[in-house]
This record gives sequence, structure tokens and C-alpha cells, in this order.
Amino acid sequence: METILVTGGAGFIGSHVCVELVEAGFRVVAIDNFVNSTPQALKRVETITGERIHWMEVDMMDETALDQVFHNHSIDAVIHLAGLKAVGESVVDPLRYYLHNLTPLLHLCECMQKHHVHRLVFSSSATVYGPPQQVPIPETHPIHTANPYGRTKHMAEQMLEDFQRAYFPMKIIILRYFNPIGAHPSGLIGENPADVPMNIMPYMTEVAIGKRPVLHIFGDDYPTRDGTCIRDFVHITDLAKGHVKGIEATNQIKSSARIYNLGTGKGTTVKELLRTFEQVNETKIPTWTTVRRPGDVAVSYADISKAIEELDWNPTKEIEDMCRDAWKWQRLNPAGYVKK
Ligand SMILES: NC(=O)c1ccc[n+]([C@@H]2O[C@H](COP(=O)([O-])OP(=O)(O)OC[C@H]3O[C@@H](n4cnc5c(N)ncnc54)[C@H](O)[C@@H]3O)[C@@H](O)[C@H]2O)c1
Repeated sequence: METILVTGGAGFIGSHVCVELVEAGFRVVAIDNFVNSTPQALKRVETITGERIHWMEVDMMDETALDQVFHNHSIDAVIHLAGLKAVGESVVDPLRYYLHNLTPLLHLCECMQKHHVHRLVFSSSATVYGPPQQVPIPETHPIHTANPYGRTKHMAEQMLEDFQRAYFPMKIIILRYFNPIGAHPSGLIGENPADVPMNIMPYMTEVAIGKRPVLHIFGDDYPTRDGTCIRDFVHITDLAKGHVKGIEATNQIKSSARIYNLGTGKGTTVKELLRTFEQVNETKIPTWTTVRRPGDVAVSYADISKAIEELDWNPTKEIEDMCRDAWKWQRLNPAGYVKK
């Protein structure tokens, strides 16, 4: 049985990745400093899977503590998800983002080299593409990062490519996520924003539960079928399964750093998402249409043919599933992971 270290394991994506890894037969070691999460998420992973997760509080800014994890566990491969992800915050406090998104990765690469762990899956973002010059967006699309968060992701990708070129045994898979939403169908784990949600789905569920009065629609005058932005929403469990495929692929590929989009390859408008949410959950979401948000692009969706072909990954869940599962998580956990 292989042991996978998941950094940021208590986060939205990390907790779902832990579930899928256990269900695919891996042993999981998860670390997190809980700056944007809680250990409860990992306890819920144990409830879902019925297996023990080896998890510990580790801040990856502390290289000695990270080294100790590699020393204490026989790690076969790593999925690196730990980091800060709020675009707006990264504009206001860019140095914090450069420090906290790049230093942990440097520490991780050093530890991996020292402990001869050569397989890594890294969480990047479609934000590195900037305004699309074509859709669907292939991995070869030019890079245009519009904010410090996006630049940390692109810098991290470049760091990894340089590392791989200099340290030949490394096999690195870089995953560029589009818009992960939804929750585990059990309703036990999901997205748990500490503050005002930055993304549409957690905002929508917080309106549905009565925590916020209205969902803002930022612009209905885009050149799209109903005037609202088009995005590539992908179910979080499909995205998490993509990481398992990534880990498996690192066993098969020759030494290299490879990049894959994870989305569904289909575009959905904000209004279509909203209508689906209302239909499948038999609820009504009050909305307020306002001006476009600076930096938003009209249409963005992925070309996922490379992931389908090379990783043998295929997302199976529909927008209906994403809306149903996100609402189930919110309904069962109106205040997130608080102790009742
Ligand atoms: N959610 C998205 O829409 C999305 C899209 C593209 C890329 N990503 C990237 O995927 C990764 C995971 O995203 P998420 O949505 O699960 O975010 P999240 O905030 O829920 O999870 C990140 C986790 O990392 C932990 N963490 C942060 N700094 C740490 C450190 N120094 N040491 C240890 N743990 C630390 C946080 O406590 C949190 O649990 C992030 O790197 C994010 O940038 C997310």
C-alpha cells in the first residue's frame, strides 16, 4: 500500500482528495496548519471512509517540522495543496502571498529531494491563463497572470519545472483547476469559507440558508447566451479523483513535469447555475444584478482532452449533482464545521 502525503489536507479540496485516496486504496498522511480549515474536516474524512487518517498540525513555513513528517513516515508521493487562495487579499497583501505560497513549496522540494521522494502532484489554477484568447482553453494557451495570487501559481509551476530539469528523478504533475464546486455526496465535508465567500456556489448556499440576503450577479451584459459569465464548474469529487489519477500517472510516466487542465470542458452561465440550483433544490435565491466585476472574463472553460487521454480521467458529475451536493452540505452544516 502506497503512502501519500497530502498538504493542506483539511481544506476544501484536500479533504475530498483524502477521501478519494483512501477509497482508491492509498494510505494517507495529511498535514495542515489550519489557517483556513479545521481538524474536524479530517475527522469527517475518517467517518466517511471508516479508515484512520494520519494527520498532524504542521506549518510548512517551518522546514524542520516538515522534514520531521518525511522522517517519521515512509512517503511514496505528495499532493501539495497547502496555500492561500483569496485573489482580492493577494492584491492588498501581495508579500504575504509570495511568502506563504512559495516558501512551503521550496521547503517541500528540499524535503522531497533529501528523502528521495520523487512523485509530486501540484495544485495550480486556470487563473494563470488570464483572459482567454480561445475557448476551450488548452494547456498550451499563453500565460497571463493578472494578480499576485495567479503569479504565485505561475511562479510555483516554473519553480517545479526548473527543479525537475535539474533533479532528473522528479515526476511532477501540475493540475490547473477550473471552478471546483459541490461537496461530498454524504454532506459531511464541503467548502467552509471563514469569511464572505469569494466564489459563487458557497455564496449561493449561504443565501439559500438565510445567512446572506441576496446573491449578486456581477454583470448581465456580457456577450454570452444570457448575458452572464460562462465558467467551467467541476464537481469536487471528480476533481479529487483527478488527483488520484495524477498520483497513479506519476508511477507510469518518465521523469518530467506535465501540466493538465481539470474542468469538465463545458461552459455554464451564472444564470444557468442559479436556475439549476433552484430547480434541483426546490428553493428560491433572491438576486441583485449589479455592474461587472473588474478582472472577470466573459467566457472561460477548459479543453480537458489531455487529462482524458493521458491521465485516463473523465469527470462524470453534472451541474445538477454539484448543486444538490453543495446544498446538502450547507443544509446539514448551516454554520460549517462547528461543534454542535
Ligand atoms: N478552490 C478553488 O477554486 C481553487 C482553484 C484553483 C486552485 N486552487 C488551489 O488549490 C489549493 C487548495 O485549495 P482549497 O480550495 O482547498 O483551499 P483551502 O484554503 O480550503 O485549503 C488550503 C489548506 O492549506 C492550509 N494551509 C495554508 N497554508 C499552509 C501552510 N503554510 N502549512 C500548512 N497548511 C497550510 C489551509 O489551512 C487550508 O486547509 C490551493 O493551493 C489553491 O490555491 C483552488
